[in-house]
Amino acid sequence: MNLIVKLRRSFRTLVILLATFCLASIIISAYYLYTGYKQEMALVETTAEAACEDLKLLPYRSLELKTAKPIDPSKTDPTVLLFVESQYSQLGQDIIAILESSRFQYHMVITPAKGDIPPLTDNGRGKYTIVIYENILKYASMDSWNRELLEKYCVEYSVSIIGFHKANENSSPSTKLKGLPLHLYNNVALKDCVVNPQSPLLRITKAPRVEKGPLPGEDWTVFQFNHSTYQPVLLTELQTSRPPPAALPRAALYATVIQDLGLHDGIQRVLFGNNLTFWLHKLIFIDAISFLSGKKLTLSLDRYILVDIDDIFVGKEGTRMNINDVKALLETQNLLRTQVANFTFNLGFSGKFYHTGTEEEDEGDDLLLRSVDEFWWFPHMWSHMQPHLFHNESSLVEQMILNKEFAIEHGIPTGMGYAVAPHHSGVYPVHIQLYEAWKKVWHIRVTSTEEYPHLKPARYRRGFIHNGIMVLPRQTCGLFTHTIFYKEYPGGPQELDKSIRGGELFLTILLNPVGIFF
Ligand SMILES: *[C@@H]1O[C@H](CO)[C@@H](O)[C@H](O)[C@H]1NC(C)=O
Ligand SMILES: *[C@@H]1O[C@H](CO)[C@@H](O)[C@H](O)[C@H]1NC(C)=O
Ligand SMILES: *[C@@H]1O[C@H](CO)[C@@H](O)[C@H](O)[C@H]1NC(C)=O
Ligand SMILES: *[C@@H]1O[C@H](CO)[C@@H](O)[C@H](O)[C@H]1NC(C)=O
Repeated sequence: MNLIVKLRRSFRTLVILLATFCLASIIISAYYLYTGYKQEMALVETTAEAACEDLKLLPYRSLELKTAKPIDPSKTDPTVLLFVESQYSQLGQDIIAILESSRFQYHMVITPAKGDIPPLTDNGRGKYTIVIYENILKYASMDSWNRELLEKYCVEYSVSIIGFHKANENSSPSTKLKGLPLHLYNNVALKDCVVNPQSPLLRITKAPRVEKGPLPGEDWTVFQFNHSTYQPVLLTELQTSRPPPAALPRAALYATVIQDLGLHDGIQRVLFGNNLTFWLHKLIFIDAISFLSGKKLTLSLDRYILVDIDDIFVGKEGTRMNINDVKALLETQNLLRTQVANFTFNLGFSGKFYHTGTEEEDEGDDLLLRSVDEFWWFPHMWSHMQPHLFHNESSLVEQMILNKEFAIEHGIPTGMGYAVAPHHSGVYPVHIQLYEAWKKVWHIRVTSTEEYPHLKPARYRRGFIHNGIMVLPRQTCGLFTHTIFYKEYPGGPQELDKSIRGGELFLTILLNPVGIFF
């Protein structure tokens, strides 16, 4: 992250030129975007539904609006103390993935049986700004000595607690959290959730966000309370097709995420009645960390996204772009421009393969070149050869000159300073001849790879600078050259939709302020 920040700072102008666009304060949850070879886009708007949900929220609207105790982050380091069930527990892994992707410092502790806690202060300064419990029951049931120690620390240093309760088949129908005026009802099946617009922690999450239909799983926990310190964050309804749990008091809406404003014991808390698998829980979790850390642990709302489309002109006869495909690409770009000013696809070309398709495909090539000013362009090697296969610089230079001559001949701009190698070959591990040839022929200053230092996990990818060329980390969206039809997406198109609607791709955009995609 540091490197990216530095790159962005010192080469702001360049990034503005290169990054296809800047989304100033985008509302991430308001749309889902995907692009790939077919370049399609889905915009989901649920504002119409929001209107009727507003009526149901009325009881919460009329509640007297209490304000949360202000958070003072000045007494603590911006580090999270995370109590997990075990080193490999699933929810713990999900929490860590979000903290690491966001570049937040954390200290993980496997929750000891009696609730012993690590030292919380260092020379009168708090070591942690938020305490997270993968299992909130471990917090509620720890011995009174440790609980007092922890809560005293929270009050004195303005530290908050986030906790999760994931019911299982052995959970009793209802649970009380010791010391808190709060009831938990377990293993409930829910549907139709809505974000409470009054919740003070909302930042990326927009309210009232409505998600229609059954919530995944039948093991939800809902919170019941009778104290003004609690504010529901996410509200749902019972599934009518199933008998409601006998003990559960009747209500129109049930909260699966609540915020404790600290009016009961001076400690702010956010509690989740399930794990992080549900996408809105992920958003609210990120917002909760931002809010409870007094914005110390927070991601900017700006997203810089570059969509590279490699392999222009490459491809066997019968699989290449025809006129209709090029038109669709232009239309998609225009559609995206209605949401994102000046959005422009970045096309990577290999000139050797120009006009090597069927007649219809050659016409597609021609339309692309007639639309040359509509797009951004970058060189992708004349013959799509992987640069690391060239041992000497002079033969690499030769190939690049051919592609450059092709560009000049067809009016393709050559001054962008950005290139991508086929398969990112030669970028990392560094093939020094590639860097030299790039500089000589194309004056390349920026490239990107998904291989540094490793492909997986994606959140560990970083940038670096070699020989004056900045290498940015890339993200993937699961779409590669060989998938050219929506219906052929590996595992079926529903997998791609899932990835966009709160899944992996959604999370990638959520957690990466700078994203370069293919
Ligand atoms: C979260 O809960 C759901 C529903 O019980 C379960 O299928 C999923 O595996 C859980 N995920 C994690 C990471 O615990
Ligand atoms: C809520 O608490 C108040 C005072 O503690 C009590 O009078 C009232 O009956 C409670 N209401 C419910 C629904 O438990
Ligand atoms: C979009 O492009 C136009 C014309 O080049 C420019 O005037 C405008 O500032 C750009 N807008 C943004 C948000 O970059
Ligand atoms: C460079 O490599 C090419 C083939 O990879 C070879 O034909 C040529 O002789 C080499 N040139 C030098 C100067 O090594």
